[in-house]
Amino acid sequence: MLVLGIETTCDETACAIVRDGKEILSNVISSQIDLHAEYGGVVPELSCRRHVDVLIPVLQQTLSEANISLDMIDVIAVAYGPGLIGALLIGITSAKTLALALNKPFVGVNHVEAHLYAAIMSQAQQVEFPCLGVVLSGGHTALVRMDDIGTYTLIGETVDDAIGEAFDKVAKLLGLPYPGGPQIEALALHGDRHRFSFKAGKVKERPLDFSFSGLKTAVLYALKGQNSQDLTAKILSEKDKADVSAAFQHAALTDIVDKALAAAQKTNCRTLVFGGGVTNNQQLRRMVNERAQGLRILWPSLGLSLDNAAMIAGLGYHCYLNKGKGDPMDLEAATRIAF
Ligand code: KG4
Ligand code: ZN
Repeated sequence: MLVLGIETTCDETACAIVRDGKEILSNVISSQIDLHAEYGGVVPELSCRRHVDVLIPVLQQTLSEANISLDMIDVIAVAYGPGLIGALLIGITSAKTLALALNKPFVGVNHVEAHLYAAIMSQAQQVEFPCLGVVLSGGHTALVRMDDIGTYTLIGETVDDAIGEAFDKVAKLLGLPYPGGPQIEALALHGDRHRFSFKAGKVKERPLDFSFSGLKTAVLYALKGQNSQDLTAKILSEKDKADVSAAFQHAALTDIVDKALAAAQKTNCRTLVFGGGVTNNQQLRRMVNERAQGLRILWPSLGLSLDNAAMIAGLGYHCYLNKGKGDPMDLEAATRIAF
């Protein structure tokens, strides 16, 4: 079964063709980083305009790289949320239009679930459930018990900023462009993490929830102490920036690994499934591999960590099979979806 996936939840316009939920025939991503870099975050209006401009060329490239024509597609899958409302509407309307014009079934896919599916579709071997899913993206941070594809129980989530958002906000404080995650990771390589003692937050009576906003404020105060007149970070030395990055990254990642391991134990899961853009962070991977001895760890393969449509097409295949049919044409965009 050939599934066309369409992804426009935030600042990537992407299409992919995936066979039987696993075999990626093409995976084309048009990133908008250039558009948003100078604003330190995604500007929704600009994002929508770019999706409109590039979606059809991205689709054409996707079909041509897979060497298939539209009529060979069996199902059209689209990320229907969570995400920016305008951006979602562009992908959903395009998917519905294609489905109507081609008389093919259409399915809506949860973008956050698809981030976890990205690691599952990356494995050569069968994945055994239950697994503990760890979502680490720019918009979401969650621990989820996965009993099967499509059967999830929320174990913990962030009460304020998502982890990727925290990386991006700290980067902005340091005067670095969006997205800040990769910049912080690169700076941290040369930094002394012991110079600042940052800690991620604890949530009262919810030990497996996350809180990163206090950590971000602690970074702000550390910078203010260095430079109380001018917070543009222009006169911070490269060493200051590297030390702050290393200390922040260590605090944030330690908190994630601590809680993920505690959640795996609590839910009797021997397999950890990681998803989302922050899984590109090599220090996170080193920490997990060191500390999660005896557990099976699944990571998304290259190209499937950041937003992409292969994960949407892959999970779309299972959504279609599980329901035995497509979704109705009146399926709406959802800016938030609870697990
Ligand atoms: O999953 P994703 O592509 O988008 C959302 O669904 O939100 O994740 C993007 C996020 C951004 O916040 C970005 O800064 C972060 O992933 N990120 C990283 C790294 N690469 C991307 N964070 C830390 N270290 C990285 N190497
Ligand atoms: Zn995402």
